[in-house]
Amino acid sequence: MGTVLQVDNLSKTYRLGGQQIHALAGVSLSVEAGRLVAIMGASGSGKSTLLHLIGGLDVANGGTVTIENNNITRMSDRKRTLFRRRRIGVIFQMYNLLPTLTARENIALPLLVDGVAISEIEKRVDQMVELVHLQDRADHRPQALSGGEQQRVAIARALLNDPALILADEPTGNLDSTNAVEVWQLLRELAHQLGKTVLMVTQEALAASYADRTYVLKDGRIIGKIDELEPGNAALVAARYTELAD
Ligand SMILES: Nc1ncnc2c1ncn2[C@@H]1O[C@H](COP(=O)(O)OP(=O)(O)OP(=O)(O)O)[C@@H](O)[C@H]1O
Ligand SMILES: [Mg+2]
Repeated sequence: MGTVLQVDNLSKTYRLGGQQIHALAGVSLSVEAGRLVAIMGASGSGKSTLLHLIGGLDVANGGTVTIENNNITRMSDRKRTLFRRRRIGVIFQMYNLLPTLTARENIALPLLVDGVAISEIEKRVDQMVELVHLQDRADHRPQALSGGEQQRVAIARALLNDPALILADEPTGNLDSTNAVEVWQLLRELAHQLGKTVLMVTQEALAASYADRTYVLKDGRIIGKIDELEPGNAALVAARYTELAD
Protein backbone atom coordinates (compact mmCIF):
# COMPACT_ATOMS: atom_id res chain seq x y z
CA MET A 1 0.00 0.00 0.00
CA GLY A 2 1.40 3.36 -0.98
CA THR A 3 1.22 6.96 0.08
CA VAL A 4 -2.24 8.45 -0.40
CA LEU A 5 -1.52 11.95 0.84
CA GLN A 6 1.71 13.91 0.60
CA VAL A 7 1.91 17.48 1.92
CA ASP A 8 5.12 19.42 1.22
CA ASN A 9 6.09 22.73 2.75
CA LEU A 10 2.54 24.02 2.75
CA SER A 11 1.98 27.62 3.77
CA LYS A 12 -1.05 29.83 4.16
CA THR A 13 -1.13 33.49 5.10
CA TYR A 14 -4.38 35.30 5.74
CA ARG A 15 -4.51 39.04 5.23
CA LEU A 16 -6.90 40.86 7.50
CA GLY A 17 -6.87 44.62 6.98
CA GLY A 18 -3.16 45.50 7.18
CA GLN A 19 -2.32 42.40 9.22
CA GLN A 20 -0.85 39.12 8.08
CA ILE A 21 -1.63 35.90 9.91
CA HIS A 22 0.67 32.99 9.14
CA ALA A 23 -1.83 30.20 9.74
CA LEU A 24 0.49 27.57 8.19
CA ALA A 25 4.24 28.09 7.95
CA GLY A 26 5.69 25.19 5.97
CA VAL A 27 3.84 22.00 6.89
CA SER A 28 5.01 18.64 5.55
CA LEU A 29 3.49 15.26 6.29
CA SER A 30 2.39 12.08 4.58
CA VAL A 31 -0.32 9.50 5.13
CA GLU A 32 -0.16 5.89 3.94
CA ALA A 33 -3.16 3.96 2.63
CA GLY A 34 -5.22 2.20 5.27
CA ARG A 35 -4.09 4.39 8.13
CA LEU A 36 -5.85 6.66 10.59
CA VAL A 37 -3.66 9.70 11.21
CA ALA A 38 -4.40 12.54 13.64
CA ILE A 39 -3.28 16.15 13.67
CA MET A 40 -3.35 17.46 17.21
CA GLY A 41 -2.96 21.09 18.18
CA ALA A 42 -4.37 23.88 20.31
CA SER A 43 -7.09 26.23 19.11
CA GLY A 44 -5.67 28.53 16.43
CA SER A 45 -2.71 26.25 15.61
CA GLY A 46 -3.89 25.91 12.00
CA LYS A 47 -5.69 22.55 12.03
CA SER A 48 -8.77 23.59 10.08
CA THR A 49 -6.70 25.65 7.66
CA LEU A 50 -4.57 22.57 6.95
CA LEU A 51 -7.62 20.38 6.42
CA HIS A 52 -9.23 22.96 4.11
CA LEU A 53 -6.10 23.13 1.95
CA ILE A 54 -5.80 19.33 1.80
CA GLY A 55 -9.49 19.11 0.92
CA GLY A 56 -9.10 21.65 -1.87
CA LEU A 57 -11.56 24.03 -0.18
CA ASP A 58 -8.99 26.81 -0.09
CA VAL A 59 -5.76 27.64 -1.92
CA ALA A 60 -2.28 27.67 -0.36
CA ASN A 61 0.30 30.45 -0.70
CA GLY A 62 3.09 27.95 -1.18
CA GLY A 63 3.89 24.26 -1.12
CA THR A 64 2.00 21.29 -2.52
CA VAL A 65 -0.75 18.82 -1.66
CA THR A 66 -0.61 15.55 -3.58
CA ILE A 67 -3.44 13.03 -3.32
CA GLU A 68 -3.04 9.69 -5.12
CA ASN A 69 -0.33 11.29 -7.26
CA ASN A 70 -2.53 14.24 -8.22
CA ASN A 71 -1.05 17.61 -7.34
CA ILE A 72 -4.22 19.44 -6.33
CA THR A 73 -2.38 22.71 -5.69
CA ARG A 74 -1.71 23.00 -9.42
CA MET A 75 -5.25 22.26 -10.56
CA SER A 76 -7.66 24.89 -11.85
CA ASP A 77 -10.51 25.70 -9.47
CA ARG A 78 -12.93 23.74 -11.62
CA LYS A 79 -10.73 20.65 -11.76
CA ARG A 80 -10.02 20.80 -8.04
CA THR A 81 -13.73 21.01 -7.24
CA LEU A 82 -14.41 17.95 -9.38
CA PHE A 83 -11.49 16.10 -7.81
CA ARG A 84 -12.76 16.94 -4.34
CA ARG A 85 -16.24 15.67 -5.09
CA ARG A 86 -14.95 12.42 -6.53
CA ARG A 87 -11.99 11.58 -4.32
CA ILE A 88 -12.35 13.28 -0.93
CA GLY A 89 -14.90 12.67 1.82
CA VAL A 90 -15.29 15.32 4.51
CA ILE A 91 -16.75 15.02 8.01
CA PHE A 92 -17.32 18.07 10.19
CA GLN A 93 -18.05 18.69 13.85
CA MET A 94 -21.65 19.55 12.93
CA TYR A 95 -23.17 16.62 11.11
CA ASN A 96 -24.91 18.78 8.48
CA LEU A 97 -27.83 16.37 8.05
CA LEU A 98 -31.16 17.49 6.63
CA PRO A 99 -33.77 17.19 9.42
CA THR A 100 -36.68 16.18 7.18
CA LEU A 101 -34.85 13.24 5.59
CA THR A 102 -34.20 9.83 7.14
CA ALA A 103 -30.67 8.63 7.74
CA ARG A 104 -30.85 6.55 4.58
CA GLU A 105 -32.10 9.52 2.51
CA ASN A 106 -29.41 11.79 3.93
CA ILE A 107 -26.77 9.28 2.87
CA ALA A 108 -28.32 8.96 -0.59
CA LEU A 109 -28.62 12.68 -1.25
CA PRO A 110 -25.29 13.25 -3.07
CA LEU A 111 -26.07 10.35 -5.43
CA LEU A 112 -29.61 11.62 -6.05
CA VAL A 113 -28.20 15.02 -6.94
CA ASP A 114 -25.75 13.34 -9.32
CA GLY A 115 -28.61 11.52 -11.08
CA VAL A 116 -27.46 7.98 -10.27
CA ALA A 117 -30.09 5.24 -10.93
CA ILE A 118 -32.33 4.48 -7.92
CA SER A 119 -31.50 0.76 -7.83
CA GLU A 120 -27.78 1.57 -7.75
CA ILE A 121 -28.34 4.18 -5.02
CA GLU A 122 -30.25 1.70 -2.85
CA LYS A 123 -27.50 -0.87 -3.20
CA ARG A 124 -24.75 1.56 -2.26
CA VAL A 125 -26.67 3.14 0.60
CA ASP A 126 -27.31 -0.33 2.08
CA GLN A 127 -23.59 -1.05 1.94
CA MET A 128 -22.74 2.25 3.65
CA VAL A 129 -25.37 1.73 6.36
CA GLU A 130 -23.75 -1.60 7.10
CA LEU A 131 -20.22 -0.16 7.18
CA VAL A 132 -21.20 2.29 9.91
CA HIS A 133 -23.38 -0.26 11.76
CA LEU A 134 -26.65 1.63 11.45
CA GLN A 135 -28.86 -1.13 10.03
CA ASP A 136 -31.40 -0.76 12.86
CA ARG A 137 -31.55 3.03 12.81
CA ALA A 138 -31.38 3.91 9.12
CA ASP A 139 -35.05 4.77 8.64
CA HIS A 140 -35.12 7.35 11.42
CA ARG A 141 -34.77 11.08 11.01
CA PRO A 142 -31.80 12.84 12.64
CA GLN A 143 -33.84 14.07 15.63
CA ALA A 144 -34.54 10.45 16.60
CA LEU A 145 -30.83 9.56 16.50
CA SER A 146 -28.12 10.14 19.10
CA GLY A 147 -25.29 12.51 18.25
CA GLY A 148 -23.00 9.55 17.66
CA GLU A 149 -25.51 7.94 15.32
CA GLN A 150 -25.92 11.21 13.44
CA GLN A 151 -22.17 11.47 13.01
CA ARG A 152 -22.11 7.89 11.72
CA VAL A 153 -24.71 8.90 9.11
CA ALA A 154 -22.41 11.76 8.09
CA ILE A 155 -19.49 9.31 7.89
CA ALA A 156 -21.54 6.98 5.68
CA ARG A 157 -22.37 9.90 3.41
CA ALA A 158 -18.68 10.84 3.20
CA LEU A 159 -17.80 7.24 2.26
CA LEU A 160 -20.34 6.97 -0.51
CA ASN A 161 -18.03 7.80 -3.40
CA ASP A 162 -15.33 5.47 -2.12
CA PRO A 163 -13.02 8.45 -1.60
CA ALA A 164 -9.23 8.15 -1.63
CA LEU A 165 -9.08 10.20 1.53
CA ILE A 166 -11.47 10.97 4.38
CA LEU A 167 -10.93 14.25 6.22
CA ALA A 168 -12.48 14.78 9.64
CA ASP A 169 -12.40 18.15 11.45
CA GLU A 170 -12.97 17.56 15.17
CA PRO A 171 -15.64 14.95 14.35
CA THR A 172 -16.50 14.32 17.99
CA GLY A 173 -16.53 17.93 19.17
CA ASN A 174 -20.25 17.75 19.88
CA LEU A 175 -20.38 14.25 21.36
CA ASP A 176 -20.28 12.84 24.87
CA SER A 177 -17.41 10.49 25.63
CA THR A 178 -19.28 7.23 24.92
CA ASN A 179 -20.40 8.40 21.48
CA ALA A 180 -16.99 9.91 20.79
CA VAL A 181 -15.21 6.62 21.47
CA GLU A 182 -17.61 4.85 19.09
CA VAL A 183 -16.77 7.33 16.33
CA TRP A 184 -13.00 7.00 16.86
CA GLN A 185 -13.28 3.23 16.85
CA LEU A 186 -15.33 3.36 13.67
CA LEU A 187 -12.76 5.55 11.91
CA ARG A 188 -10.05 3.15 13.04
CA GLU A 189 -12.02 0.17 11.78
CA LEU A 190 -12.62 1.83 8.40
CA ALA A 191 -8.88 2.29 8.03
CA HIS A 192 -7.66 -1.04 9.35
CA GLN A 193 -10.36 -3.37 8.13
CA LEU A 194 -11.52 -1.67 4.95
CA GLY A 195 -8.32 0.03 3.86
CA LYS A 196 -9.77 3.56 3.97
CA THR A 197 -7.36 6.41 4.61
CA VAL A 198 -8.42 8.88 7.27
CA LEU A 199 -6.96 12.18 8.47
CA MET A 200 -8.58 13.63 11.59
CA VAL A 201 -7.83 16.89 13.38
CA THR A 202 -8.42 17.23 17.08
CA GLN A 203 -7.50 19.12 20.25
CA GLU A 204 -7.98 16.04 22.39
CA ALA A 205 -5.31 13.59 23.48
CA LEU A 206 -7.91 10.83 23.82
CA ALA A 207 -8.97 11.26 20.18
CA ALA A 208 -5.35 11.19 19.03
CA SER A 209 -4.72 7.96 20.95
CA TYR A 210 -6.92 6.08 18.47
CA ALA A 211 -4.73 7.07 15.53
CA ASP A 212 -1.82 5.11 14.09
CA ARG A 213 0.24 8.28 14.17
CA THR A 214 -0.34 11.78 15.52
CA TYR A 215 1.33 14.87 14.13
CA VAL A 216 1.55 17.76 16.58
CA LEU A 217 0.79 21.19 15.13
CA LYS A 218 1.80 24.39 16.87
CA ASP A 219 1.64 27.92 15.46
CA GLY A 220 1.27 26.60 11.92
CA ARG A 221 4.19 24.15 12.12
CA ILE A 222 4.48 20.43 12.69
CA ILE A 223 6.70 20.21 15.76
CA GLY A 224 6.84 16.44 16.00
CA LYS A 225 4.99 13.18 15.64
CA ILE A 226 3.83 10.56 18.09
CA ASP A 227 3.91 6.90 17.03
CA GLU A 228 3.12 3.68 18.87
CA LEU A 229 -0.12 5.03 20.26
CA GLU A 230 -2.46 2.90 22.34
CA PRO A 231 -6.21 3.35 21.74
CA GLY A 232 -7.72 4.92 24.84
CA ASN A 233 -4.39 5.85 26.41
CA ALA A 234 -4.78 9.64 26.50
CA ALA A 235 -2.12 10.04 29.20
CA LEU A 236 0.57 8.69 26.89
CA VAL A 237 -0.37 11.17 24.15
CA ALA A 238 -0.68 14.06 26.60
CA ALA A 239 2.79 13.37 28.01
CA ARG A 240 4.43 13.24 24.57
CA TYR A 241 2.47 16.30 23.43
CA THR A 242 3.64 18.33 26.41
CA GLU A 243 7.26 17.28 25.77
CA LEU A 244 6.98 18.48 22.17
CA ALA A 245 4.91 21.62 22.64
CA ASP A 246 6.63 23.15 25.68
N1 LIG B 1 -10.46 33.30 6.96
C1 LIG B 1 -9.53 33.72 7.84
N2 LIG B 1 -9.10 34.98 7.82
C2 LIG B 1 -8.16 35.41 8.69
N3 LIG B 1 -7.58 34.63 9.62
C3 LIG B 1 -7.98 33.36 9.69
C4 LIG B 1 -8.96 32.82 8.81
N4 LIG B 1 -9.16 31.51 9.12
C5 LIG B 1 -8.32 31.25 10.14
N5 LIG B 1 -7.61 32.35 10.48
C6 LIG B 1 -6.55 32.41 11.53
O1 LIG B 1 -5.59 31.42 11.23
C7 LIG B 1 -5.15 30.78 12.42
C8 LIG B 1 -5.43 29.28 12.33
O2 LIG B 1 -6.84 29.06 12.30
P1 LIG B 1 -7.51 27.61 12.22
O3 LIG B 1 -8.96 27.82 12.08
O4 LIG B 1 -6.82 26.83 11.17
O5 LIG B 1 -7.14 27.01 13.65
P2 LIG B 1 -7.63 25.65 14.36
O6 LIG B 1 -6.41 24.96 14.81
O7 LIG B 1 -8.56 24.94 13.47
O8 LIG B 1 -8.41 26.21 15.63
P3 LIG B 1 -9.70 25.59 16.39
O9 LIG B 1 -9.19 24.45 17.22
O10 LIG B 1 -10.17 26.74 17.25
O11 LIG B 1 -10.71 25.18 15.36
C9 LIG B 1 -5.86 31.48 13.56
O12 LIG B 1 -5.00 32.47 14.07
C10 LIG B 1 -7.07 32.08 12.90
O13 LIG B 1 -7.50 33.21 13.59
MG1 LIG C 1 -10.58 24.37 13.62
